[in-house]
Amino acid sequence: MRKDEAVEIRSFFQRLDFRHFSVVDASAFFLKRLKGVLDPEEKRKIIGHTYIDVFEKKVKELEKQHPSITFLGQGTIYPDRIESAQPSKHASKIKSHHNVTLPEKMKLRVIEPLKDLYKDDVRRLGRQLGIPEMLIGRHPFPGPGLAIRILGEVTKERLDILKGADAIFIEELRRFRHYHKVWQALAALLPVRAVGVMGDARTYGYIITLRAVTSVDAMTADWARLPPELLEQVSSRITNEVKGVTRVLYDVTQKPPATIEYE
Ligand code: XMP
Repeated sequence: MRKDEAVEIRSFFQRLDFRHFSVVDASAFFLKRLKGVLDPEEKRKIIGHTYIDVFEKKVKELEKQHPSITFLGQGTIYPDRIESAQPSKHASKIKSHHNVTLPEKMKLRVIEPLKDLYKDDVRRLGRQLGIPEMLIGRHPFPGPGLAIRILGEVTKERLDILKGADAIFIEELRRFRHYHKVWQALAALLPVRAVGVMGDARTYGYIITLRAVTSVDAMTADWARLPPELLEQVSSRITNEVKGVTRVLYDVTQKPPATIEYE
């Protein structure tokens, strides 16, 4: 997840007085299972399966005090199903979204009440249900999380670097009042090192790429024309505040041919 996201979500549900709300920090477990894994589809599969393992373990623990827990609710929406679908036997799918990489043998029954809706329908529905704007207006975030924004192996070091860079980008987008002008914004980490200077010394650090897109349904997307002052501020903050980064790039590729995410 993103930096401080678990804390924010927990405090939000506490404010709403949800009594049966639990947070499980399984980050070390996920990292262990992802060790040495480079292939994006393999990452998705491992994450999907680990997610269910963590879920089922927690369910067992909760069932000691609660009646049996039968359902797993997922926020799958229509474009998730389209993009994960295999158009024909011979065509290869673009990527399998996390929601459809669940293990076949699962005790919980998956329910997906939003599966026929587009994002803007989901948002309209949410507003009618009185869900606060702060949640409704959040950018989409992929099920497999930051793992598919770290190209190559996911390690704790890379994850911490990416979290730091991503948090700065989102913070500045909000400060410059551009957060709600884009469909989605993200930072990704490229696992190659470029030269930089620190004082008199030569350093090598990772490259962070920033991507912000405008879109109506994520099926196609255009790169957002963000103001140069905003990009400069983000770049200067990331290279100064996030140790291990020497370059910041801005992605100007449209979808298609690129996708929104990096893996
Ligand atoms: P792409 O990268 O295919 O992304 O252009 C389109 C939209 O889907 C989100 N996305 C995912 N969501 N699991 C998800 O739940 C995934 O594996 C996944 N991959 C991409 C992406 O963030 C964008 O909004």
